[in-house]
This record gives sequence, C-alpha cells and structure tokens, in this order.
Amino acid sequence: MSILITGGAGFIGSHTCVELLNKGYEVIVVDNLINSHLESLDRVMQITGKNLSFYKADVCSYDDMIRIFSENSIDCVIHFAGLKAVGESVAKPLEYYRNNLESTLNLLAVMKQSNVRNFVFSSSATVYSGDNEMPLCEETSRTGSCTNPYGWTKYMQEVMLRDISKADLELSIVLLRYFNPVGAHSSGLIGEDPQGIPNNLMPYISQVAIGKLACLSVYGDDYPTPDGTGVRDYIHVMDLAKGHVLAVEYATHNKGCEVFNLGTGKPCSVLEMVESFSKACEKPIPYKIVSRRPGDLPTVYSDTKKAERILGFKTEKTLDDMCRDGWNWQQKNPNGFRQ
Ligand code: NAD
Ligand code: UFG
Repeated sequence: MSILITGGAGFIGSHTCVELLNKGYEVIVVDNLINSHLESLDRVMQITGKNLSFYKADVCSYDDMIRIFSENSIDCVIHFAGLKAVGESVAKPLEYYRNNLESTLNLLAVMKQSNVRNFVFSSSATVYSGDNEMPLCEETSRTGSCTNPYGWTKYMQEVMLRDISKADLELSIVLLRYFNPVGAHSSGLIGEDPQGIPNNLMPYISQVAIGKLACLSVYGDDYPTPDGTGVRDYIHVMDLAKGHVLAVEYATHNKGCEVFNLGTGKPCSVLEMVESFSKACEKPIPYKIVSRRPGDLPTVYSDTKKAERILGFKTEKTLDDMCRDGWNWQQKNPNGFRQ
C-alpha cells in the first residue's frame, strides 16, 4: 500500500514516515518546507534503511497535486500539512484560514478526481470547548468556541470533512484529535524543531536545559489542579505515529467519517514535566511562576477508550521516556536541523 503524506517533513509527519516505512508501506511525502527541513526526510531514510519519494510542493496547488496523484498509485492520504502556531494565528488569521482550509479542500477535490478514497486528518484537542463540564475529553464532548483562529481552522475542517463524507458514501475519513505530542525518535535523529522561541512546554524546557534560554516561565500556579499548575495529556510522538498506522488500516476497511482521540489519558502538570525532564538531563530546570497565559485551560486530557476499542490503540511510552527522548534529540541537535 502506498500512503501520500502531506507535511511529512514536519515533526509528527517525519515520525509517522518512520513507522509506516518500518511496517512496509510505500511513502510519498508532499511538503513545501515552510516549517521544516528536507534533512528530516534524509534522517527518516537513515533510521529505516528505506527510501521514500519527496515532492516539494504546496498542497494548495491543484495542478501540482493532480500531477503528483497521477504519477503515483495512492491508497490513502494522511494530511498533516498546516500552520499550527496558536499565537501567530491570532496575528495572521488570513494566512491560517487560507492555508489550512484551502489545502484540505484542494486535497479532497484532487482525491475525488483521482479516485482516492481514504483520508486521515490531523485534528487537535483544541477543538474541544473550554466550557465542557469535565476536563476529560470524550469524542462526543462539546466542540467549538475555540479561542484562536488556529483552533477554528481545525474545527472548520472537521465540519467540512464530515459534510463531504456524508455526500460521498465511498469516502473514508478518520479525524485524529491529538493531545500534546512531545518527545522524539529514540535515535535522536529526528525531533521537534521549532523556529524562534518555542511556545510549547517541552521544547521550551529543553532549550532551558541546553542553555539557550535562561529560565522557564510557569504560567500560573493557582489553577484548581493538584499542584496548581496546568495539566495536560502529553503523548510520545512515536506512540502518536503508531496511531496513524492504525488509522490508515481502519480507513482502508471502513467507510464514513470517524473521530478518535490520540492521547495517553494520563494527566500531567507543568511541574511534573519539569521534574521528569530534570531527571532526564541530570540538572535542575530553573523556573519562575508567572501569571496565567490567556486562553489556557486548567486541565485537558483524553478519554482513550474509543481509540483503544476500535483502533486497538494503546500508548506504551511513559513521561520519563518522552523526556529522555526529547533531551536526547535536543543534545544531539542543539540547533535542530540547522547544523
Ligand atoms: P509541523 O509544522 O512540524 O509540520 C507541518 C508540515 O506541513 C511542515 O513540514 C510544513 O512545512 C508543512 N506545510 C504547511 N503548509 C503546507 C502547504 N500548504 N503545503 C505543503 N506543506 C505544508 O507541525 P506538526 O507538529 O508536525 O503538526 C502536524 C499536524 O498536526 C498539523 O496539522 C498540526 O496542526 C497538527 N497538530 C499538531 C499538534 C502539535 O502539538 N504538534 C497538536 C495537534 C495537532
Ligand atoms: N506552559 C508553561 N510555560 C511555557 C509553555 C507552556 O507553563 O513556557 C504550560 C501551559 O500553560 C500549559 C502547559 O504548559 O498548562 C502546556 O502548554 P503547551 O503550550 O505546550 O500546550 P497547550 O496544551 O497549550 O497547546 C498545545 C498546542 C495547541 C494544541 C493543543 C492540543 O500548542 O496547538 O496543545 O493539542 F491545540
């Protein structure tokens, strides 16, 4: 089976390429490298000892995508390509709506034209409404009322994909709502490579640990959580990658549109993450408590039952594994892929 992966040079895409190649799938990557480096795909081939095909192209280009689909026999598409920085999406909503919505609409049109029926989509826990009564998110929990354009693009894409699947009964669409992906491949050859100062917790901590940043700001210690800091559901990116292989298998055997959470279901606070990372890097992580970050929720974690029951998805890696592998990647690549 051959899988077209949009955004495959990026963080989650590159790890998913490893998992798919190791499972014997053929992989075709389309990426415009707007937020990634081609080096990541060379490293994927180094890790797996297998080849993949690469096209530098914008998923929003109908002509390029039609050509790529005509040059390859594609069984399933995994659509990672998209812009993902929450703060940037507030400053540049037009770019975010345009890139994220257009890429998905274009892909679906090209798939229809090329008779490709299976589609796996990167959604996000951010679609869950902040006003849900429970912090535990089930796939049936309320969605919408997002706090930023990035979140709305994911919400809107889910709506569009559901409608498209209702009108075309041959289509199979799997919406994967990721919780907080962290860590790296255990080789330390691929990992997350944020541009500029990281917004997310683990990349920030690891840049403090390597000495590029002085001190972590912990956004609030007065939340109604066990230690007062924000609680999330961190998932090792290799566990997440395995979830995509299961989603591809599901998509190729079932029609319709189905949504799954991909998380561990194990809540973890900012200070627990700091402690585990300190253990991994064998030094204390300097931090200071500052005020809450606007838009943050106290606690968000996943109900994992549906993915386990239907996909057979079960995470294996612990928080310590995530920190060990994240630190290994950071140490071996202090400047990410820009050596
Ligand atoms: P990433 O930025 O590392 O990867 C995205 C890739 O898409 C990049 O390589 C980028 O160059 C490419 N890209 C963007 N627009 C494109 C376009 N129009 N045409 C071709 N390529 C394009 O991000 P990631 O962390 O790997 O995230 C992958 C997907 O998962 C994204 O859709 C993101 O929104 C979603 N997601 C990520 C997280 C997270 O915390 N990392 C959480 C939930 C959902
Ligand atoms: N945090 C800090 N200091 C930092 C960064 C984060 O204390 O420097 C805290 C936050 O307040 C939060 C926790 O660490 O309590 C996690 O924050 P992240 O920014 O790492 O992750 P979020 O849960 O806020 O958001 C991430 C992505 C979103 C995505 C969401 C769910 O940034 O795009 O996970 O998948 F939608």
